[in-house]
Amino acid sequence: MIRTRIAGIGMYLPKNVVTNNDLARVMDTSDEWIQERTGIKERRFATRFEDTTTTMGVEAAKIAMQRAAVSANDIDFIVFATLSPDYYFPGCGVLAQRLLGIKEVGALDIRDQCSGFIYALSVADQFIKTGMYKNILLIASETHSYGLDFSTRGRNVSVIFGDGAGAVVLQPTDASPGSASKGILSTHLHSDGSEAELLSMMNPGFHAGKFVPEKKLSEPSQPYGGLFITKELIEKDDIYPYMDGQAVFKKAVVKFPEVIIEALTANGYQSSDLNLLIPHQANLRISQMIQHKLKLRDDQVYNNIQKYGNTTAASVPIALCEAWENGKVKDNDLVCLAAFGSGFTWASALLRW
Ligand code: ACO
Repeated sequence: MIRTRIAGIGMYLPKNVVTNNDLARVMDTSDEWIQERTGIKERRFATRFEDTTTTMGVEAAKIAMQRAAVSANDIDFIVFATLSPDYYFPGCGVLAQRLLGIKEVGALDIRDQCSGFIYALSVADQFIKTGMYKNILLIASETHSYGLDFSTRGRNVSVIFGDGAGAVVLQPTDASPGSASKGILSTHLHSDGSEAELLSMMNPGFHAGKFVPEKKLSEPSQPYGGLFITKELIEKDDIYPYMDGQAVFKKAVVKFPEVIIEALTANGYQSSDLNLLIPHQANLRISQMIQHKLKLRDDQVYNNIQKYGNTTAASVPIALCEAWENGKVKDNDLVCLAAFGSGFTWASALLRW
């Protein structure tokens, strides 16, 4: 019996630290408001013209590969999770492949926003368990700062997000009876598209106002095309993420605990058995609510949103990497990864480290 294990993990945070007071200089907000509502003190922003989603992901990948003692020639599949790709297409998977000098292997791009890393982990896990691949490089990286509205109008969204990347190398491990029985025990994926627009960035896009009639554009002058990105959208500043914060909050505090309990129950565990929960770093108040609902001690939950903000798909691997580097994830620990985000999508993974 084969299981998937994390053979190496790495992270990359851009060097540019942006405090709440820095944001208060460009919009009407305050350190007090941001900390009270989200727990965030500062975040990192990509250095313009230097960092991109791909380059940050590649830096994290180099560390993960070095820790797994694998070279570019060993990687037999790439999975890249992001909602902020460098290009509309092709995806960041092939761009990372090029930068890392990995030859002609498959490269898969995954969306699924805040749940992107766990969705990607689940996909990679299936490929490893079937024996198809032996060294999968999984990268999750985000550059939010290039695409947020930093005027007062966009403040409910732009104060939350930060940039960064995490990566893991996944390998098979023996999980037959009598073996150490480590690795990914199970993954659990869910979605509910009925409220997809509540946390979304619709434009630029190919929807032409189909699902939200008030988003319909005026008829373009030419017979074909002209609906993907228009002057009208730019003039109306309708090119930024939208979030109904309270609706997201309400759904997140229900679905997070549900999917964590699902992972524990599937493997015959309870929340008291957990050594560490790594929740997607959405908002410190959401993490605290999950902790309270699951009756977890402070030392059973890892949070670093205070330093990095919400880095969507990258937040789980960054938090896992940092927790491991700080000695908070030890050999044989039971670790649960969980996420909730735009879609809505939510997911969990239970691992024996
Ligand atoms: N600074 C100062 N004031 C602000 C800011 C800001 N950055 N943003 C909004 N406000 C104002 C609003 O304009 C509003 O003012 P008004 O009362 O004069 O109209 C007031 O603060 C309250 O606004 P709400 O949107 O009701 O604020 P709320 O208390 O709900 O907090 C927040 C907003 C932090 C987004 C909250 O809804 C929340 O935590 N939601 C969860 C969403 C989340 O965490 N998303 C993370 C990304 S998604 C994910 O990863 C799962």
